Amino acid sequence: MKTDYAKLTEQALLDCLPGLNCRERVLIESMKYSLEAGGKRVRPQLVFEFSRLCGGSDDAAAPFACAVEMIHTYSLIHDDLPCMDDDDLRRGKPSNHKVYGEDIALLAGDALLTLAFETLSSDRAAILSGNRACRLAAKTLAAYAGANGMVGGQVIDLKSENTNAPLEVLREMDYKKTACLIKAACELGCIAANADDEQRKAASLYGECIGIAFQIQDDILDRTSTDAELGKPVGSDVENSKSTYVSLLGIERCRELVDELTQQALEALGAFRADTTELKNFALDLAKRTN
Ligand code: IPE
Ligand code: IPE
Ligand code: MG
Ligand code: MG
Ligand code: MG
Repeated sequence: MKTDYAKLTEQALLDCLPGLNCRERVLIESMKYSLEAGGKRVRPQLVFEFSRLCGGSDDAAAPFACAVEMIHTYSLIHDDLPCMDDDDLRRGKPSNHKVYGEDIALLAGDALLTLAFETLSSDRAAILSGNRACRLAAKTLAAYAGANGMVGGQVIDLKSENTNAPLEVLREMDYKKTACLIKAACELGCIAANADDEQRKAASLYGECIGIAFQIQDDILDRTSTDAELGKPVGSDVENSKSTYVSLLGIERCRELVDELTQQALEALGAFRADTTELKNFALDLAKRTN
């Protein structure tokens, strides 16, 4: 039977959290609230799938999968804050700041970011994957999540509000704010399995293609879905006067682009000798996703 990687991730994430028996209990509860709130667990699944493809064990991949999901979850908590997208619903529940207040939500995001790197540098991770893999994973994740990666992309997003940003700016924005973390997940799977550079490069290209497609699909769903289906408020981009592929090119062209990028991702899988059926289907399913 196929391993349920989303479920495996959820248990592993809870195991990483500090105990509640402390004066800052509300912070840990707030971190737990967002980590447990559901979500598709796309990024950890990619870590596990690439690790398995490259011959690694699920145990070794787990800390890396958790680290990426922690950073993703922190990015969502901050993304929903009133100073950013000001959204009150996330993963089908009130956004973190609606429950815990903006101050604790901000700090829960900060603490998830540091917990990610604590997890990557844990003794357990070092024993399972080796010191070199852990160091490389931390370096890779920091680069993709930081100022020239996800955080940088979020800045381009905010600065492009109320402008008619051209395609090259939107491409860079989507690459940085969304594809970078997805790319990191694919590469971390390879790193956990001590894969060679050629495999890592192919995984990286796959991640980049599905990552940009993922954000374009997110922008399509912001126009076409419902709050109930999506678990977050639709129409957020229009309300915030965001510049997106959809606002520039329209929904039909965006659907074509999602398909083109998905095909490019499938081609990248050609570099692997092992069976890539799972990752092929994963990319195809993401292109058709409705939430
Ligand atoms: C939402 O990511 C933010 C984007 C980068 C588009 P997901 O759609 O993966 O959100 P969850 O984790 O399933 O809630
Ligand atoms: C998300 O972009 C990018 C992040 C790094 C969180 P969005 O602002 O479109 O994500 P959603 O639609 O709120 O999930
Ligand atoms: Mg945003
Ligand atoms: Mg948002
Ligand atoms: Mg969105």
